Amino acid sequence: MSGRTSLTIVLAAGEGTRMRSSLPKVLHQVAGQSLLGHVLEVAPHGEGNALAVVVGPDHQAVIDEIKRLRPDAATFVQRERKGTAHAVLAAREAIANGADDLVIAFGDTPLVTADTFSRLRAALADGATLAVLGFRAADPTGYGRLLVENGELAAIREQADASEEECKVTLCNAGMMAFDGRAALKILERIDAANAKSEYYLTDAVGIVRELGLHATVIETSEDEVRGINTKAQLAEAEAVLQTQLRRAAMEAGVTMIAPETVFLSRDTTFGRDVTIEPFVVIGPGVSIADGAVIHSFCHIVQSAIGRNVSLGPYARLRPGTSLGDGVKIGNFVETKAAVLETGVKVNHLSYVGDAHVGEKANIGAGTIVCNYDGFDKHRTEVGPGAFVGSNSSLVAPVKVGAGSYIGSGSVITREVPENALVVERSEQVVRPGWAERFRAHKQQDRKPKPSKD
Ligand code: UD1
Ligand code: MG
Repeated sequence: MSGRTSLTIVLAAGEGTRMRSSLPKVLHQVAGQSLLGHVLEVAPHGEGNALAVVVGPDHQAVIDEIKRLRPDAATFVQRERKGTAHAVLAAREAIANGADDLVIAFGDTPLVTADTFSRLRAALADGATLAVLGFRAADPTGYGRLLVENGELAAIREQADASEEECKVTLCNAGMMAFDGRAALKILERIDAANAKSEYYLTDAVGIVRELGLHATVIETSEDEVRGINTKAQLAEAEAVLQTQLRRAAMEAGVTMIAPETVFLSRDTTFGRDVTIEPFVVIGPGVSIADGAVIHSFCHIVQSAIGRNVSLGPYARLRPGTSLGDGVKIGNFVETKAAVLETGVKVNHLSYVGDAHVGEKANIGAGTIVCNYDGFDKHRTEVGPGAFVGSNSSLVAPVKVGAGSYIGSGSVITREVPENALVVERSEQVVRPGWAERFRAHKQQDRKPKPSKD
């Protein structure tokens, strides 16, 4: 943005009591990412763009999430909740560094876009001292009303302080706003708590800007974008809006979806060309799907890389750390975790493959299980290229299966299988010719009706 520096302050001190949860409100997730994570992702990044987050007391989990996503961010604690302006001033130290643009965002509005940050900042570059984000509310109850006079933003009136006439205004304050960074501290410090709630309202900044003979303006956006989350029902509504956006973007990028309304994506899901996703698929965070892959119905995929022309499912579960090479086939009721399956591997039915590396073109037979856990530690399994693991085998890790080897069905493999060997670990088959006939004859003899006593 035209060489201007910025500081974004995200307010995340809300207790979120209406969520009825022990988790801080901003850590609840939509589309596989925390509410706060969505906001941090779209806030200005990189050289010249600083970030500060204001959190509540005892919000260590929120601080951890911030450090994970934006290690460059400064965090500030607002010890008492005395209003939005009071929360912003908790980050006074960061404001005093004097960025060109000071942007205030809320941590509980996950649908906000990077474009909105840019539009607010552009208004500052055009000479406004304050740019406020507004939207036309279907039902304005509870929101601050934006009072516009001759095209200028004259004031924001909180519901509790508004006249009957002002309550009819539907242009509402979304909460997000951008200040000219040089004037910001002076304006924020003049805000008092002389209102119905005795809180320091950030919204009073508008009146102060006007008193100073400076210029305040409104940037409008859609109501969907600025949905704030206070309840589990609103969380689900935001999820629905975001999923619709993600599905549309995926289809615009060329993904075929037969019933998109049944497919759940994450914000970071990436797709190659000609990917098909059948109905009822859930894709969690950290998933990439390469060209030509087909995801059949009822798959659940998290933190996994899916190669070109892979066929997955139906009913497959890919857990974190799965990497499927090109042309891999994973069939029904197969679970993988921390598993690298090289090009052309087949695991077609009813298997668990965890903490494993499977070489090119190996075939893992139906019902094969990798026994990776001994109750204390996880151990690794290595299956060489071209190996053929017979159905219903157990590979007891740590163990290596040599390239090109065969394992007879039903084997429990506890020791290394040499390359190109056949290993069978099961008892010899016992054959007794004619036994069944003799057995049946004997049983029928027993069942003959007993002669009556009289
Ligand atoms: C605020 C706006 C209102 C706007 C609405 C949009 C003010 C005074 N009012 O009202 O004009 O229409 O948002 O949703 O700004 N927060 C703190 N510390 C505090 C108070 C709030 O961190 O002491 C945080 C909250 O966690 C939340 C945000 O600031 O993320 C907004 O606070 P909230 O109490 O929801 O304000 P509203 O009454 O909804
Ligand atoms: Mg609110």
